[in-house]
Amino acid sequence: MQAFQYQDRELFVEDVPLAQIADTFGTPCYVYAESALTQAYSAYSNAFAGIDHLVCYALKANSNLAVIRHFASLGSGFDTVSIGEIRRVLAAGGEAGKIVFSGVGKSADEMRQALEIGIHCFNVESVNELERLNRVAGEAGKRAPISLRVNPNVDARTHPYISTGLKNNKFGIAYEQALDTYRRAAALPNLNVIGIDCHIGSQLTDATPLIDALDRLLVLVDQLGEAGIRLKHVDIGGGLGIRYDHETPPDVAAYAAAIKQRLAGRGLSLLLEPGRSLVGNAGVLLTRIEYLKQGDGKHFAIVDAAMNDLMRPSYYQAYHQIRPVTRRDDAVATYDVVGPVCESSDFLGKDRELAVQEGDLLAVMSAGAYGATMSSNYNTRPRGAELLVSGDSVRLVRARETFEQLIANEIGLLDGND
Ligand code: LLP
Repeated sequence: MQAFQYQDRELFVEDVPLAQIADTFGTPCYVYAESALTQAYSAYSNAFAGIDHLVCYALKANSNLAVIRHFASLGSGFDTVSIGEIRRVLAAGGEAGKIVFSGVGKSADEMRQALEIGIHCFNVESVNELERLNRVAGEAGKRAPISLRVNPNVDARTHPYISTGLKNNKFGIAYEQALDTYRRAAALPNLNVIGIDCHIGSQLTDATPLIDALDRLLVLVDQLGEAGIRLKHVDIGGGLGIRYDHETPPDVAAYAAAIKQRLAGRGLSLLLEPGRSLVGNAGVLLTRIEYLKQGDGKHFAIVDAAMNDLMRPSYYQAYHQIRPVTRRDDAVATYDVVGPVCESSDFLGKDRELAVQEGDLLAVMSAGAYGATMSSNYNTRPRGAELLVSGDSVRLVRARETFEQLIANEIGLLDGND
């Protein structure tokens, strides 16, 4: 996370001390470094230069409008999973023609709106979804561009909750049923079959399963060609991991080289749906220590951020580095860093060696992906602010929620509707 570096004792984001951001905007808050977003995107665009490709940023990882806008300005497309996400892309100035729409549960209304908007492709995940999309497109007098999400049945070897390419997952169409489903799709009048896609899992620290999945898809592409169904693109999903601790995630350039070699001479364009690898290490969650507490054989640092702000540690037992914003020379102790929420699983990190005092600031690192987007209002906690930093300029890109906003949808209904 080069965008986050110590200068002497102070942790900076780009050219700004994080402590200054906490003083101005309060804590907890998410802080994103624009240079890190650009750098991560460029790693993809440079690595895939020379082949016809479109990076479709999976905005479930971080759907802040300013982040979307930044990627759109770099030429990015977008992978979305709800009409809400599609509308975010448009609200941020992204192009409709660069949106793909994934997800197992698209409603007829979502389909209707997406057709009206004119997205690039629907990534269809079941036969029944195909039939529904065909009907909705017919009613709208349109032809829906589609790809089928095929389940290549390879093991992503990642956490089971974020592994999606195995047979027993709810996602995608079984590999063995793919040819028949394509034949069905090609026979439906209001569908235009243009691609094939897969997404096998997230936080992969080895690219081999991703390449194996591509190989499996290309076998299908050939069989489809023989059956007279010629595809325009292959979409290999997202999934490249990032470094949270000591992982060595796959190098984008090596990954790209393996893909380019396989696609050479095929006349297929490539779509990618990276999420985490574009934003994960571009963000931190900034939090302040409210109390230090000595339990029975345990030290706790009770901070003002909690599982509602960053769910990953409690939900996936995910590891995030936790760094002091101002380094001290004091003796180090081992802390569980926990939040104020009333759940034993409310922790941000366990057994962390820290030299800290009450009132100190901590930065929970690598929190740019699946941080703010997975946050909630549990315990009636307003979601924190989000800031985007570029050089020495700090921009508030999401204001901290207010109590009034949290109760707005209830207050008028308090005495009943009649
Ligand atoms: N495409 C599809 C269809 C997906 O379902 C996902 C993520 C992506 C792309 C982006 O994958 P990425 O490049 O970010 O690995 N909340 C979990 C991660 C869930 C990922 C869900 N799908 C976490 O915090 O680790």
